[in-house]
Amino acid sequence: MALPSDQVVDALRAAGEPTRLRILALLSREELAVMELCQILDQSQPRVSRHLKLLAEAGLIERFPDGAWVFYRLAGAGPVRALVDHALGLIAPDDRMARADDVRLEAVRGARSQAAASYFTQNAGRWDEIRSLYVAEESVEAAILKAAGPGPFERVVDLGSGTGRMLTLLGPKARGAVGLDLSQQMLNIARANVSQAGLTRCELRHGDIFATELPDASADLVVVHQVLHYLGDPPAAVREASRLVAPGGRLLIIDFAPHSLEFLREQHQHRRLGFNDNEMEHWLLNAGLGKVKIATLPPATQPGLTVKIWCAERGRDPVRSAA
Ligand SMILES: C[S@@+](CC[C@H](N)C(=O)[O-])C[C@H]1O[C@@H](n2cnc3c(N)ncnc32)[C@H](O)[C@@H]1O
Repeated sequence: MALPSDQVVDALRAAGEPTRLRILALLSREELAVMELCQILDQSQPRVSRHLKLLAEAGLIERFPDGAWVFYRLAGAGPVRALVDHALGLIAPDDRMARADDVRLEAVRGARSQAAASYFTQNAGRWDEIRSLYVAEESVEAAILKAAGPGPFERVVDLGSGTGRMLTLLGPKARGAVGLDLSQQMLNIARANVSQAGLTRCELRHGDIFATELPDASADLVVVHQVLHYLGDPPAAVREASRLVAPGGRLLIIDFAPHSLEFLREQHQHRRLGFNDNEMEHWLLNAGLGKVKIATLPPATQPGLTVKIWCAERGRDPVRSAA
């Protein structure tokens, strides 16, 4: 699709400034909050916000408020996005400024992961208790079983398996199961829980949801339960999870609907305060999965958290990923 020339000029003008080009390059790595951009660019918030406003007005980036934070990401597919991708593709890999920004982005990511890892280390033993503070677990688990389908499953993969609750729930219906988590403490507890449940064909592995090292199409059920809201790049995790789904298999993402319980960010390391149906559907479809079914479980009391289950299937004729 082509654009009127004045829109091309606007887009080029917006991108044609050193800080704004740096912002575009950073957002091409992952969505970022304003204060993270300020930290990486080493510029004041008013200054960075001015650049962001200009980029958003020209349609190069999207702004999305999330509780008290505001995140930015590159605009989705389309001619303006193609222009941004092309411009970023022209930057030499050894460009000094781009490399320095990447190093600072890594530092921001590192600090974020360290805070999350130490949170999970400290709370590993109490995790089930913390989980049940949010919502009525029995109804969520009944809805997960329904969305997963009757089984039996050849192979269930649980990404960010925590204490292994999803494995003990779904494992009895599976011929084999793998739980993967970044936290050794969580894995230790999951091993004990899985063995207590008598699940002998359930393996626990240390690994990262962004690079699971599991083979393509190797599971007929992939579950990501209450993990995405901790992550810096949720769509990348959705892509990796989708990659594992075999033709005819399902991906279940269980997380919260958008909410405003800011204390979860401050005290429990949540990065995103829930997800809306549109963005989740967009990520799932872009990752090559088919129609998305959604279950909504409102909280018993207010203020509370609404749990969502997004269930997407991979067609038997593999759909090519649009990402
Ligand atoms: C809130 S717990 C949920 C655990 C489990 N799915 C459940 O519902 O009981 C989130 C889990 O995600 C794990 N996690 C966070 N980032 C991860 C990553 N990049 N790769 C794999 N696991 C991750 C944490 O270690 C933690 O065990």
